[in-house]
Amino acid sequence: MLAIRLVGGPERSEALALPIRPDGTAEEGAAQATVLPGLPALADDLLAEATALVPAARAAGRAGEVHVHLRPGRVPTRLLLVGVGEGDEPGWRAAGAALARAASGETHLTIMMPVDATSGAVRGLVEGLLLASYRFRLTEAGEAPALAGVDVAVGDPAPYADAVERAEITARMTRLARDLTNTPSSVKNPQWFAEQVEAAVAGRPDLRLRVRQPDELAAEGFGGILAVGGGSASGPRLVELDWHPADARTHVVLVGKGITFDTGGISIKPVPAMKLMRKDMAGAAAVVAATLGAAALRLPVRITTLAPLAENAVSGSAFRPGDVITHYGGVTSETTNSDAEGRLVLADALAYAVAELKPDLLIDLATLTGANMVALGKRTGALYSDNDELAADVLAAIDAAGESAWRMPLPADYVEYLGSDVADLYSAPNQGGGSVLAALYLREFTGDLRQRWLHVDMSAPSWADGDAAELTRGATGWGVRGLLRWLATLG
Ligand code: BES
Ligand code: MN
Ligand code: ZN
Repeated sequence: MLAIRLVGGPERSEALALPIRPDGTAEEGAAQATVLPGLPALADDLLAEATALVPAARAAGRAGEVHVHLRPGRVPTRLLLVGVGEGDEPGWRAAGAALARAASGETHLTIMMPVDATSGAVRGLVEGLLLASYRFRLTEAGEAPALAGVDVAVGDPAPYADAVERAEITARMTRLARDLTNTPSSVKNPQWFAEQVEAAVAGRPDLRLRVRQPDELAAEGFGGILAVGGGSASGPRLVELDWHPADARTHVVLVGKGITFDTGGISIKPVPAMKLMRKDMAGAAAVVAATLGAAALRLPVRITTLAPLAENAVSGSAFRPGDVITHYGGVTSETTNSDAEGRLVLADALAYAVAELKPDLLIDLATLTGANMVALGKRTGALYSDNDELAADVLAAIDAAGESAWRMPLPADYVEYLGSDVADLYSAPNQGGGSVLAALYLREFTGDLRQRWLHVDMSAPSWADGDAAELTRGATGWGVRGLLRWLATLG
C-alpha cells in the first residue's frame, strides 16, 4: 500500500500537486478555476506560475480533473493541478483517486492542502489515493506502479493524524475484501476463505474466531449451508468472528453471503452468467473486512460476523431442484432452483443469529440476485428494511463513505408467492421482482428481530467493469466503507 505521510510543507522536489476549484464567477460555458488559497509554504513564484497555468490549461477545477505541467530542469519537475470541486470530502476523494492514476509513474508525490482543510477533506484525499492505487495480481509478474510514497502538506499535521488513520484502515480493509473477492475459485474454496480470516485474526487475542466444519454444521442442523455445499469436493464452513470490546453497548450481527463459486448447481448457469461467479462471496468478504476494521479502530460496539461459506457445484451429491431442506431452527424450504442458493445459506445464518446471538441489530450483505442491476444499475446496492430509522442511518453512512445504495420496498402483495405446498417456504418463486422476493424470503428467518433487520443485495456494485475514480477494475470491496462509517456511529 502507498505510504502516506503528513508533512508541514513540501520537502521533496519530484512532483508537486496543487488543488484548484471552480472560481464560481465564470459565465456559463466558460468555466474557470482558481488555485485554493492557504497552501502551506508554497513559494510565491510557484503560486504565480500555477495561477497563470490555470487559464492556459483551460482548467475548470472539477473534482478529479488533472493537468500535468512539465518543468524540465526545474524544481519541482512536474506540477500537477488537481480539481477538488466543492472542496468537500467527495471532491478530495475524487482528487486523490485521479492523482493516484495521473502520478502512477512518479516515485514520489507531494500534495498541497490548504492549512484550514477539514479532516473530512484529508480523509477523502487519502482514501482516494489508497483505493485507486489498488492492483490485484497473483504473481510478481508485470510492472508494479512506481508511486510508493505521498506527502500530504497541511501546515500543522497533528490535527489530521486521526483522519489519516481512519482512511488507512478503511482502505486496507477495502483492499482486503477486494483481494478475497478477486481471488480465483481454484484457490478460494470455503476452507481457504476461513484460513484467510484465521490469518487476519492471528495475533489479535481481542478477536474470537470459530470456524464450523461440515460435521459440526450437521450436528447443529445448518441444513441450508450443507445442502448448497454438498455438491462440492470442498466442503462448506461457517465462520463466526466476534469483536467484543468491554465498553460495547450495542451488539450488531453482520451476515455475508460466502459462495466461493456459483455454478448455479443442477440448475446450471449459462456461460456468460457464470463467468464472474468467483465474486459470489463479496458479501462475506465485506462483513469480515468491516469487522476487522472496527477492531483495528477499536470501535465501542460488539460485532459478531457470520460468513456461511459454500461452493455451489454440480455433481452427483449436489442438491436438486425440488429437494426440501431443513434450515437451522427447523423452517423448511422447497428448493425449486438450485441457483437460488445464496438465500439458503443466509437463512441458516440469520436463524442462528436470532436464536443464539440475540443481537440488537441484524444486517446482511449478499450478491443475491442479477435483478439488483436490472433495477438500479451497476453501482447501487438494493437496501431493504422495515425499520425506517435503521434504513436512513445505513443509507446516510453508505453515502458519506462514497458508496451507493437505494432503499427498496418489502411489498406485502408478494409474500404469498413464498408459499409452498410441501414445505414452509418456496425459495425461488418465478413471479415478481427477483431482488425484492429474495429479500422477502430472508425476512422469514429474522424472527423477533424483523424490525431490527436490514439487507443489502449488492451483486451489482460488488464489481467494476473498468477503473472509475476510486474503483479499480474487478472487485470493489463494496460495503466495507459504508459499514465502517455506520459502525462508527454506534456506541
Ligand atoms: N449469485 C447469483 C446472483 C448474481 C447474479 C450475482 C449476477 C451477481 C451477478 C445468485 O445466486 C443467483 O443465481 N440468483 C438468481 C436467483 C434466481 C434463480 C431466483 C438470479 O438472480 O438469477
Ligand atoms: Mn445462484
Ligand atoms: Zn449466488
